[in-house]
Amino acid sequence: MSAFTSNNIVVNESTVILAIETSCDETAASIVMGGNDILSSVVSTQIDLHAQYGGVVPEIAGRAHLDLLHPVIAQAISEAGISESRIDAVAATHGPGLIGALLIGVSAAKALAFTWDIPYIGVNHLEAHLYAGLLEDPTLELPLVVLLVSGGHTMLIEMRGHGEYKLLGRTIDDAAGEAFDKVARFLDLGYPGGPAIDAIARTGNAQAIDFPRGMLHDGLDFSFSGLKTSVVNYVRKNPNVNTADVAASFQWAVVDVLLNKARKAAEAVGARGLVLGGGVAANSLLREKFTEMCAADGRRGLLPSRAMCTDNAAMIGSAAWYRLRSDGPTALDSGGFPNLRLPLIDSSWSR
Ligand code: KG4
Ligand code: ZN
Repeated sequence: MSAFTSNNIVVNESTVILAIETSCDETAASIVMGGNDILSSVVSTQIDLHAQYGGVVPEIAGRAHLDLLHPVIAQAISEAGISESRIDAVAATHGPGLIGALLIGVSAAKALAFTWDIPYIGVNHLEAHLYAGLLEDPTLELPLVVLLVSGGHTMLIEMRGHGEYKLLGRTIDDAAGEAFDKVARFLDLGYPGGPAIDAIARTGNAQAIDFPRGMLHDGLDFSFSGLKTSVVNYVRKNPNVNTADVAASFQWAVVDVLLNKARKAAEAVGARGLVLGGGVAANSLLREKFTEMCAADGRRGLLPSRAMCTDNAAMIGSAAWYRLRSDGPTALDSGGFPNLRLPLIDSSWSR
C-alpha cells in the first residue's frame, strides 16, 4: 500500500515536477513547473555505446542508465536553479520500453519520492510524446490530431481532451522509425538510421525512384514493410545505384504517406490543429512538408523542436502534471510496464 493514495494534492501552476526518462537509450531528467514551464532538460544519449551493435542492446542500456542517471538528475536540478526542497513530485516513464531500462528510472523516482515524502507519478511514454507539442504551445485548442511517429509506433491520434485519445490509424506492420532504421542498416548507413538517412538524402534526388506508397488510399492505417522490401529488391537489381538517391526516394515515400494520412485524419475529425510527435518528427523533409501542408490547408500546425520530438524528460514532466491533476499519484508498489498501451476511448485496440 502506498503512502500516497489520496488525491488531496494541490496541483497548480507552481507545482514543480522532477521527471525521469529511461525507457530506451536516452537517460534524461527534467524539472517542469505547472505542466509547461521547462526549468531544465538534460538528455544523455547512449548512441555511441549501441552503435557498434547496430541497435539498442537492452543489458547495456540498463547498466548505462544506472551509471548516468544520478549525475543527470543532479545536473537537471542544478540547471533549474532550485533546491531539492522545491520539488513537489517525482515522475518517471513506467512504460512502454525495455523492462531493465524502465526499472532504473522507476526505482530511482520511487526512492526519491519516498525519501522526500512527495508523490510519485508513473508516466506512459506514448502519452508524453503527445504532450511534447502542447508543452511548447499550450494555447493549442482541442481537438487536435497528433501524428506520433517513433521507433516503435506510428499512430494517428485524435486528442479530444487531456487523457482523452481516440485512435484514428496505426501501422499494421513496421513503425516508420523502424523502417528508417532497417533501410539504413541495409544501405550500411549506420545507427540510428533516421538521422543517417535524413543527412544523406539531402544530396540525393527524391524523384529518382518511385517507391510504393503502402495503403495510400486505404483508410488511415499505415504499412511500411512493403516499402522496405522494395528498397532491398531495387538495390539488389541495381547495385550501382546512387545511395543518396535511394535514401531520398525512400524518405519521400514515407513522408508522402504520413502527411497524406495526417491531412485526411485532420479533415475527418475537424481538427483545430495538427501536431507532430516522436523521433521521426525530427526528420527534415517531414518537417518542411508538414509546414507547407498546414499553410496550404490553413490549419494550425505544431512542430515541436527536434529536441522535444526525440526522447526527453520534459515531455514526461508535462504529461505527469496533467496525470497528477486528473488521477493523483501512482502507488509506490507500482512497477514497470514494457508493453504499456496508450489509454484510448471507444476502441478495443490500444497500442
Ligand atoms: O521517439 P524516439 O526517440 O524513441 C522511441 O520512442 O522510439 O524515436 C526513435 C526513432 C528511431 O527509429 C530513429 O531512427 C528515428 O526516431 N529518428 C528519425 C530522425 N531522428 C530520429 N527518423 C527520421 N529522421 C530523423 N531525423
Ligand atoms: Zn519515444
